[in-house]
Amino acid sequence: MRFIRNGIIQFLLHKIGFNFSVNPKCLKCVNDCPSDAIDIELGTINDNCIHCGHCVAICPESTVFPDADNINKLHLSTVSSIDFQHLSAGIRTCRSYLDREVDDETLKLLIENMKHYPSASNTRPIQITTVKTKEVVQRLNNQTAGKLIRTLKFITSPVIRPISRIIAPNYNPSLLINYKKQFIARQTPESSQVCHHAPVVMLFHAPVTKYGMAGADSYIWSTYTSLFANTLGLGTCFNGFIVKAMERSKAMRKEFKIPANHMVYSALLIGHPKVKYTNEAGRDKPKAKFI
Ligand SMILES: Cc1cc2nc3c(=O)[nH]c(=O)nc-3n(C[C@H](O)[C@H](O)[C@H](O)COP(=O)(O)O)c2cc1C
Ligand code: SF4
Repeated sequence: MRFIRNGIIQFLLHKIGFNFSVNPKCLKCVNDCPSDAIDIELGTINDNCIHCGHCVAICPESTVFPDADNINKLHLSTVSSIDFQHLSAGIRTCRSYLDREVDDETLKLLIENMKHYPSASNTRPIQITTVKTKEVVQRLNNQTAGKLIRTLKFITSPVIRPISRIIAPNYNPSLLINYKKQFIARQTPESSQVCHHAPVVMLFHAPVTKYGMAGADSYIWSTYTSLFANTLGLGTCFNGFIVKAMERSKAMRKEFKIPANHMVYSALLIGHPKVKYTNEAGRDKPKAKFI
């Protein structure tokens, strides 16, 4: 962030005694800055800045300039709280897609809008790989399914079962064995048990760091993307199978062009939905308490 009028001339004027305040009346940026990083007299922003952009967002005179992009005026949203409740109630995981591509303009729009989504410490480490070729989606499906089958075989094997019971108290071998049998029976080269014949799979990935929060960032970005996609009439499905398979397979990460130091933290299937819903899915409210 920087003040538009901040520069060498202003600095020199200040040095010889001119008090060249950037916006002496307002101080909104100073008061809203979470890091006390702004010196309004000097028109400078020091290294405590966490790059949140609040000073840019709050300035009525557009005096503070962002690190990237331009100063763009906000358009007031007309989405009411009831609209949001209706939107949330209407979004279902889509596992049934029309055989129709999602056009590049729409994909670009989904990606462009990610500039608005937050990230921990404003580090914005998330990168997007969009798989949008039928054959590549099918390869991603088959390799993930293969990985899942191998994992299911392993954790349900008679040798591992007792250990799994100790590690995971909720482990239910009969349920898993049944799931494994069904999954294997349905798995053919053309079936799409993981990707559900979605035309697009978006992979959200980032460098692996010890203390970073890329996992949380990824799910926030993919969740916003899912909401936005639904407003465009698209259907989406978070895909944990792909995330888990990618986590375990360096070869898969390499094949799907994920950089060597990155991990895939979330995956989102996107496409035109084949089905329409007319009723809410009845669900319990979350357990919540106020303290
Ligand atoms: C983190 C996460 C991972 C998921 N992974 C998968 C997946 O791999 N395959 C799938 O078909 N659905 C997946 N889902 C979708 C859930 O199964 C789905 O949200 C649940 O069935 C509830 O249905 P709804 O989204 O239509 O309300 C995932 C959802 C979340 C939140
Ligand atoms: S970007 Fe945020 S932390 Fe940095 S100066 Fe502006 S308000 Fe303060």
